[in-house]
Amino acid sequence: MSFPIVRGRRLRKNETIRRMVRETKLSVDDLIYPLFVVEGENINNEVPSMPGVFQMSIDNIVKECIEVEKLGIPGVILFGIPNHKDEIGSEAYNDKGIIQRTIKAIKENTKNLLVITDVCMCEYTIHGHCGIIKEGDVDNDETLKYLALEALSHAKAGADMVAPSDMMDGRVSAIRDILDDNGFYHIPIMSYAVKYASAFYGPFRDAAESTPAFGDRRTYQMDPPNRLEALREAELDLIEGADIIMVKPALPYLDIIREIKDNFNIPVAAYNVSGEYSMLKAAIDKGWLDEKVIYESLVSIKRAGADLILTYFAKEIAMRY
Ligand code: PBG
Repeated sequence: MSFPIVRGRRLRKNETIRRMVRETKLSVDDLIYPLFVVEGENINNEVPSMPGVFQMSIDNIVKECIEVEKLGIPGVILFGIPNHKDEIGSEAYNDKGIIQRTIKAIKENTKNLLVITDVCMCEYTIHGHCGIIKEGDVDNDETLKYLALEALSHAKAGADMVAPSDMMDGRVSAIRDILDDNGFYHIPIMSYAVKYASAFYGPFRDAAESTPAFGDRRTYQMDPPNRLEALREAELDLIEGADIIMVKPALPYLDIIREIKDNFNIPVAAYNVSGEYSMLKAAIDKGWLDEKVIYESLVSIKRAGADLILTYFAKEIAMRY
């Protein structure tokens, strides 16, 4: 059958009918809002390359989380910016560190908000790399010990979920082991399993003050042209006990999100990263693009197969949709 019997436009006639046949729905239920915590009081520093995103002190983070919960956003992911950085990222696993105090403060002041922590060393090391440096590169197996301590310290402080973003081999099992040994077997791991060495993280590194002092992250993050390697990375993390698999960045890697969704029977998260946010924000602020591009971009990430989306647009979406 074909035209004139078949007419695709019949089901596009008005918003009511479009709503009925809409295949993909973007819901506030799927969103995770990233937050950057700094030391101090009443601090609200806008990140220059990310208009609308702020580094906040714990008191303001708590206020923000109360609002986030009111908006119906189910979870936040926390990034800490400590005052003290050193070679071994000591503040990352200090039980009185910035993230640990933030988790407690949020938990005391919200009801059901899910607090997820990013587990990585780059914000805590003086060189800005995601682990311990030996002979000019990040030493994989040495770093695992520190990541495990960091995840444990987050769990002790009350984190609901940990999300390792370092891309060391074997980190999911190292974290699962230490959590289980300490009675935290109920805490899920959302693994940044498929994380590419991407220039789209540029604005985040301003926000998190985590730009590497030398070199780049290409010896541990994935090479952007690779697709089959993404399947291997996801599979390994599943075997090691990951509960949710993340693909990052999102928009330039929609094919990879679909690939992971089709190959594994597990929730898939996608990180709509800082550069994806800044691009749209800049064009919207200049009047070059309509803000409808936000919804269109996020719904495309869902259509590609993501169950969860980490996005700096979470509040804007929650207010409008
Ligand atoms: C930490 C980390 C990064 C991001 C999330 N966790 C930066 C990086 O790997 O350099 C990027 C998030 C974003 O760009 O929004 N390793």
